[in-house]
Order: sequence, then structure tokens, then C-alpha cells
Amino acid sequence: MTKTPAIPRHIAIVMDGNGRWAKLRHRPRSFGHNAGRKAVREVVEGCLREGVEALTLFAFSSENWQRPEEEVGALMGLFVRALDKETDELHAQGVRLRFTGDLTAFDEPLRERMQASMARTAGNHKLHLNIAVNYGGRWDIAQAARDAACAVARGELRAEAVDEAELGRRMCLAELPPLDLFIRTGGDCRLSNFLLWQAAYAELHFTDTLWPDFDQASLHRAIEDYGRRERRYGRTGDQVAMDKG
Ligand code: FPP
Repeated sequence: MTKTPAIPRHIAIVMDGNGRWAKLRHRPRSFGHNAGRKAVREVVEGCLREGVEALTLFAFSSENWQRPEEEVGALMGLFVRALDKETDELHAQGVRLRFTGDLTAFDEPLRERMQASMARTAGNHKLHLNIAVNYGGRWDIAQAARDAACAVARGELRAEAVDEAELGRRMCLAELPPLDLFIRTGGDCRLSNFLLWQAAYAELHFTDTLWPDFDQASLHRAIEDYGRRERRYGRTGDQVAMDKG
């Protein structure tokens, strides 16, 4: 039986609160997103220091296209600048960078930059950093189901063999350790269509801290909180205690 490890192997974060952080300072929302980029650097450093294996960040949801055109444009510009500035350092730190989501919606130059950063860092293993862009949990489940259906149509898979394991293999991030800790900043307590399948047994940590203020100490507190949880996976507390011996 799994003991709760003190350090989660895989952390996912909904980075919420950039807009409110900027509003508090009477600045445009893009100012908050820019400040949010520094918090991304903080959590990457924190994960490297704490020995977390994978970090998945919700940078742009399938629903974020509905935001004002100006804000979407500012976010895209920010992603491009971040890619250009950060890839070298991430590579030097042994970070493997991946973009997760439906990348077909992005323009060609941005897609090429994403592919180049992924290719450049593909051999790194210290930390898997996944940036979820144009991602939605329901989209992920649907694409896995479609992939399985196509395999059935091609005669490569029996329809009866489509079970949780078979679908799970087709979900985004399947090759990474299971998601242990799901963090959301900004005070709301919901998943917002992020990693719906992968979060099935994740511990949830909600904090009022606005994303630009989330730093290595905040990450450490979330990890400590995780370490106090008892992960039962459907078993009783007594069974878990017996297993711990
Ligand atoms: C949610 O806050 C945040 C986003 C939709 C964008 C996240 C982007 C970053 C943190 C920028 C840096 C990211 C990378 C990967 C370089 P919100 O705008 O919904 O805040 P609000 O709820 O206060 O309005």
C-alpha cells in the first residue's frame, strides 16, 4: 500500500488571480500576467529544490479564448517572450519543457517556437515542466476516446478492450507520474476543467494567495499540507494504518 510520500511526485497548478493582483495596483490585467511569469520561475525553482518530478501549469484554457482580444493578444505575446527568454535557463537546469493541449489553434510562428523549445529540452530529466495551453479536461478525455475509437476502426484494438487503462494511456501526461497535488491560487475552490481525469486521486490545495504572490515558501506550505494528508485510495483508515506497520 502506498505511504503518503512527503514530496509529491507531480504537482499541477491553476495559476489564478493575476487580474485581481493588477487591479489592486490600478494596473491593466496584462501587468498581472507579467508578474505571474515571475511566479512561474519561483515554482520551477521550488520544484527543483524540493525534488518534485513533474509540474503542470494551466497557462491558457480552452475557454480563455473568450477573453477580450487585447488580453488574449497580450498573453500570446507574453508566452513568446517567456519562451525566448527562459528556454536556455530551463535547459541549463535540466528541465524538460512540454506544451500540453490542442496546439493547432495557435499561429504557426508560436507553434514553431513551442516545438523548438520542446525539442531543445527533450533530453532533460530533472523536472518535467508541462505548460497546458488551449487545454481542457473534457477535451483531453474526448481526444483519448477518439484515439481509441480510431484504433478500433483500424482493427488494432477490440472495442471490448477499451477500459480505464486503455483510455488512460491515451490521455495527456500519461507517461508522467500520477498527479499527487493539485494547487489552485486566487481563492476559488474549483477545478475549472483542468486535468479532470488525472486529478481523480490528487490531493487538493486551495489558497487565497493571488498567483503573482505565490512564491517558493507558498509552494513549500502546499507540500507540507500534502504531507499531512492520508491517501486511502478507497481503503479504510485502519487498513492504511496497518499497511504503514
Ligand atoms: C488566471 O488569472 C491566469 C491566466 C489565465 C494566465 C496565466 C498566465 C501566466 C501566469 C503568465 C505566465 C505563464 C507562463 C507559462 C509564461 P486571471 O487573469 O483569471 O486572474 P483573475 O481571476 O484575478 O481575473
